[in-house]
Amino acid sequence: MPNTVLYGGDYNPEQWPDEVWDEDARLFDLASIDTLTVGVFAWSKLQPAEDVYDFGVLDRITEHLARTGRKIILATATAAVPPWMARRYPEVTRVDFEGRRHHYGQRHNFCPSSPAYQRLSVALAERIAERYADLPNLVGWHINNEYGGTCYCELCAAAFREWLRERHGTLDALNHNWNTPFWSHVFTDWDEIVPSSALSEHWRGPNHTAFQGITLDWMRFASDALLGNFLAEKAAIRRHSTDIPVTTNMMGFYRPLDYFRWAEHLDVVSWDNYPPDANSQDRTALTHDLMRGLRGGQPFWLMEQAPSQVACRDVNPVKPPGVMRLWSYQAVAHGSDSVLFFQMRASRGASEKLFSAVINHAGRSDTRTFREIADLGAELPRLAEVVGSRTRSRVALVVDWDSWWAVEISDGPSRHVSYVRTLVDWYSAVHACDVDVDVLPQDADLTGYDVVLAPLLHLLRDGVAERFERFVRGGGSLVTGVLSARSDIHDNAFLMDVPGPLTGLLGIRVDETDAQVPERANGVALDAELGGATHSCSLVFDLVLPQGAEVLGRYTGDFYAGTAAITRNRVGAGSAWYLGTQLDGGGLAAVLGTVLDQAGLVGPYAHTAGLETARRYSADHRYLFLLNHGDGEVSVSVDAAGTDLLSGRDFAAGDKLTLPPTGVAVLRGASAGRDETGSRTR
Ligand code: GLA
Ligand code: ZN
Repeated sequence: MPNTVLYGGDYNPEQWPDEVWDEDARLFDLASIDTLTVGVFAWSKLQPAEDVYDFGVLDRITEHLARTGRKIILATATAAVPPWMARRYPEVTRVDFEGRRHHYGQRHNFCPSSPAYQRLSVALAERIAERYADLPNLVGWHINNEYGGTCYCELCAAAFREWLRERHGTLDALNHNWNTPFWSHVFTDWDEIVPSSALSEHWRGPNHTAFQGITLDWMRFASDALLGNFLAEKAAIRRHSTDIPVTTNMMGFYRPLDYFRWAEHLDVVSWDNYPPDANSQDRTALTHDLMRGLRGGQPFWLMEQAPSQVACRDVNPVKPPGVMRLWSYQAVAHGSDSVLFFQMRASRGASEKLFSAVINHAGRSDTRTFREIADLGAELPRLAEVVGSRTRSRVALVVDWDSWWAVEISDGPSRHVSYVRTLVDWYSAVHACDVDVDVLPQDADLTGYDVVLAPLLHLLRDGVAERFERFVRGGGSLVTGVLSARSDIHDNAFLMDVPGPLTGLLGIRVDETDAQVPERANGVALDAELGGATHSCSLVFDLVLPQGAEVLGRYTGDFYAGTAAITRNRVGAGSAWYLGTQLDGGGLAAVLGTVLDQAGLVGPYAHTAGLETARRYSADHRYLFLLNHGDGEVSVSVDAAGTDLLSGRDFAAGDKLTLPPTGVAVLRGASAGRDETGSRTR
């Protein structure tokens, strides 16, 4: 098949009479929609009773899509169980955090450990795979949908115990790893262990636990339990279809699932982008980079986004003119090879009745939403050559689910530190420097990077300190900070100075970590090298004692006024930076901007208000995406000759390029190789 940016999305014709389908096809043609995801919530239609499968409707759908020239992403339909199953096998429904067995209702409503669910979901996936594996227009398998949530039932408790045996081996090891002499928790039988819930270790919700080690393992188990469901369905598919990529749609920064552990089992990562508000472009950019990073830079699929408004929030604004297009190109800029929507035709009833759709309740093609989607559909083939191209970045941001969990379930020093907010703050400071960022897991190979950012890397795995040290000695800049390297993989404190195994590399020791209410900020006065200004900082404040590191920023207030807040330790050919507090945006921009500048990485479009840049590279070309998220016009002079794939206009280096609000340009220029950023090589 020739390259195209897949365009279309979720389509539920089984919820409509067949007469509508031809009209749908006509409208899809008008909008250049070429790819449809079908079957996602069709279980009760496909299997009306345990011993009755009826693929009539899916046969007609797939034939219809083949006839009308559409590509198919076929779902296994296992994300919402049919009512008969819950009635016949009450174990299938979930038990919640408070211990209540749920009745039938909603979706994503199955216990991952239920033998009935496991058997019937795999059987359905197997039959679907067997029946449709050879469809010539099949481009992907979509297993389940947005895996998520947790079940706390007895079956899950038993599966948890099995999982713990695998992980810890013996009860002695488990007692040691969980530090169970604390509060008399020494376990003498595996069956004494129960899920970490409101009925056991928690109070005031999921983040407040008496036993971090237990809760952390429970969270890991809960992620693995759903992964087990995914793997079982995938195996069933692979018995019939060997080469069509298998995916499941992820949810970006979704805390309950450790997507790094999942991603190795997907053939292509896909995700659903529903930004929380209209000002979250940095968070969205970072999330796209996370999705690309999950499989080592491989392009991903944007599986869902709203054509306009969503319906799930208290207030659901429409996407103003141009925004749907802008956000679609933002996804492609960061590595997506698709632009897919939820959903094609607005639901008649139930909770997504007022969720925007390509086709509204009246079936019109002259709505603003439809027109914008049709315009984008007409334009998108101009980016076909971008499909498969990669990002090249010299800056890495470490994202670590264990640290995310650990830092947010920690008692002390502050409940206000948010892992994702911190990541976004650091990312914003870097991305504004016209720098592309790769997201890496903590134990990734750091070869090829000049700068590695590791905020809130609370839990440090074995070997990571040594890898960081090699990276720095070889000329890299490592930046980490407060609450990093505080515990081992079981969330027990390192029995050494803070920050644990990184103390020597950073050339510091932290004597205490103060915490204050969010309103009570402190200041950090930065050295001239970092711009010399004083910036606000808040929440947590390490009292840093330099042990060889230079002090480049000092607190301005409290009893530790004048002492070190920001340090740099030169080791070998590189530097290890420590940010002992949560700096505000200006402070992060000053510090991280200097780190990037000293590494020669700040790009020509840095700090252009409203402008986002991102690059993808093929063997011969660089594709520079310029995206105007601001309210005003943006003008830049282009850094290298290129052709805007969208407008067709040619630019010479230095020519002025102007983008209106929501405007986008994709400049195709020569690819000057990996070192074109001008950075030094190690
Ligand atoms: C999710 C689901 C879709 C739909 C959309 C819109 O992303 O995967 O099925 O429910 O949200 O709410
Ligand atoms: Zn369960």
